[in-house]
Amino acid sequence: MACVAVMGLRAQILPVSVWQAVAIQAGLAALFSRGFRQPVWWLPIHLLFLPTVLMGLSWQVPAWLYLLTLLLLTLLFWGTVKGDVPLFLSSSAVSEALIEIVSREQAQAFIDIGAGLATVVVPLAKARPDMVVVALERAPLPWLLARWRCRNLANVQVGRYSFWEQDLRGFDVVFAFLSPLVMAKIGEKVRREMRAGCLFISSSFPIPDSHPESVLELNDSRKTKLYCYRIGGSLKS
Ligand SMILES: C[S@@+](CC[C@H](N)C(=O)[O-])C[C@H]1O[C@@H](n2cnc3c(N)ncnc32)[C@H](O)[C@@H]1O
Repeated sequence: MACVAVMGLRAQILPVSVWQAVAIQAGLAALFSRGFRQPVWWLPIHLLFLPTVLMGLSWQVPAWLYLLTLLLLTLLFWGTVKGDVPLFLSSSAVSEALIEIVSREQAQAFIDIGAGLATVVVPLAKARPDMVVVALERAPLPWLLARWRCRNLANVQVGRYSFWEQDLRGFDVVFAFLSPLVMAKIGEKVRREMRAGCLFISSSFPIPDSHPESVLELNDSRKTKLYCYRIGGSLKS
């Protein structure tokens, strides 16, 4: 919308340079974005998109670099275009809290159902070498990095398939850091498959219409909340 407005103005009335037109477009796009109440993280995208394109054109970046960037982003974010959860990582405070929880629970088997770069799995597996740790990651690049990071950890298995295909029956503690969009469906899966007495922990996003047994608020930069659900207790089937 902002692009069309500026192109029209430039053709008709505005005696501005291309860079000035791009700056006006970026400002208008940002304003429209606020007007349409888009989330605030859209702002830098609107402000930087066209200036970056113009800079790329004026620097005469070789075409293969665009292709390589697209390829890397696709391998990193994989199913995000289809609605899968993107990659963002837990803090070390989350891993520390999980280490305490699995010890208290005397867990023998733990799974991270969207493991990213194994940020949570690696410290957990090191702290509890006696516990089986499974990391599922569907995006190829994070999966490869997770595999590499876990290469010397005998108690870790890294799988490259969707958590929807994984039966959760064998795990004492299941960890997820996903998105609010999938939490209702995850709640159904957890209720259906996990054994009574086991623990489901969701970082940042609660299961709708369910009461967690406890909520841990961590002292990291995001003030992460860990929602802990006891199967058969706070989470009834
Ligand atoms: C928000 S990141 C969390 C990464 C890691 N668990 C952490 O806490 O640092 C979510 C990850 O889940 C992965 N993911 C999304 N949908 C998935 C699916 N259906 N099966 C397996 N992994 C999935 C994404 O590729 C992404 O790496």
